Amino acid sequence: DSVVLDREDPEFLANAPAIYAELRALGPVVRCPFGRGISDGVNPEGSRARESGRVPGRDRLFVSRYDDAVSVLLSDRYASDMRSVMTPEQRARLEATMPEEFRPLAHSILMLDPPDHTRLRKLVQPNFTARAMELLRPRIQRLVNELLDTIERKAAERGEAVSERRMDLIESFAYPLPVTVISDMLGIPAEDREQVHGWAELLLRADRKDAMRDDRIRASLRAFSQYLDGLFERKRRAPAEDMISQMLHVQEDGDTLSHREMVSMVFILFFAGHVTTVNLIGNGVFALLTHPEQHARFLADPTGLAKGLVEETLRYWGPVDYISTPRIALEEMELGGTRIPKGENLSVGLSSANRDPARFANPEVFDITRPDAHRNIAFGKGIHVCIGAPLARLEGQIAFESLFQRFPKLRLAVPAEEMQWGSVANLRGFTRIPVLF
Ligand code: HEM
Repeated sequence: DSVVLDREDPEFLANAPAIYAELRALGPVVRCPFGRGISDGVNPEGSRARESGRVPGRDRLFVSRYDDAVSVLLSDRYASDMRSVMTPEQRARLEATMPEEFRPLAHSILMLDPPDHTRLRKLVQPNFTARAMELLRPRIQRLVNELLDTIERKAAERGEAVSERRMDLIESFAYPLPVTVISDMLGIPAEDREQVHGWAELLLRADRKDAMRDDRIRASLRAFSQYLDGLFERKRRAPAEDMISQMLHVQEDGDTLSHREMVSMVFILFFAGHVTTVNLIGNGVFALLTHPEQHARFLADPTGLAKGLVEETLRYWGPVDYISTPRIALEEMELGGTRIPKGENLSVGLSSANRDPARFANPEVFDITRPDAHRNIAFGKGIHVCIGAPLARLEGQIAFESLFQRFPKLRLAVPAEEMQWGSVANLRGFTRIPVLF
């Protein structure tokens, strides 16, 4: 009754939907040993135990079905902060063994429970309301148009014939869009972005197994943190209309936001804004190009179907996949008829839930007109539901609509079977998508 879900294993990445289907059939929860890739980057005990070949009492129960996933995410009896079930000695040991550089990552909003979670969430939420998004829309549209113009200009400069025009969709389009938007929102100056991008690339690997002992990762965490100290100082002197200035203002006003919390919030907004939406765009284009009938439908009405494509992509190839969304049972619980002991670690399988036939009819079919696709839980649910969801949805819609309007002949430049799913942390996506346009 033990399954290793190993997100560094290409076999698992390629076959995850079929494996999830088996797990859903097996029962509401399946025990997964502390296999590779579970985010033990911030959990030295996990790494040590695995090295010694011993699976500690820290393995997880994988929640595979939609209703159970939702009930765990909505319940306050499952916590996100693993410290909530630790004894004071265990907490002290964790604090002592965690390198200083990793603390902002380990104690981000994602891993906090109320009341700290509530306090931090309130600070940033206003930047992501529907109204805030409507104000951002023209800026995102302009940016998308500029990226598409650049793609055309570069192809013309390379002298490619129209039928031979090529690009890497990730590098030229899916990646720069969200990075630029979130950097603008935070107030990271344009001239610093390349440097910050370099650190970010390394830090994305901070979730991997040997991260804490990787000097390069530790060094980039330090460098990013020092960079932020300097940036905070500059913005304190000359505040602007951006989220970092806003947080600094809150800090001065009422001391409700510690320095570490602020570094941590910028980290998570920057990273979340960096990678997840890249994969939403990449996975959506890939799904469309590999489903000819859906592709033809979309081309007939990109404006009307952009929303549907975003929602069905989130459901079908959601960017947050594999072992993710960890929770801890604060007391003995019951889930789908199974007893969950107090202190048990769970991982809520968002992608598995999104293909649960008990919730979605013919879940293995990719259908951009599916009426209930928006019921997907790719952004989670409950108090931790993704803050950036309205932004990611808006970016996705504008990106899909404009990309296919500009390049209706867009197609994969390599056979789909040659494309290999990759994983950075718990994310499903491609590092490159070669296309002809
Ligand atoms: C939380 C997915 C884009 C910022 C989450 C969670 C998921 C998720 C599943 C909840 C994790 C949990 O409950 O443990 C996604 C996906 C995205 C996306 C699939 C793109 C398609 C973004 C963007 C931002 C962002 C663009 C910021 C600009 C956050 C933050 C949290 C979060 C700050 C923590 C919320 C909390 O703990 O209260 N995201 N995200 N995300 N996301 Fe996203």
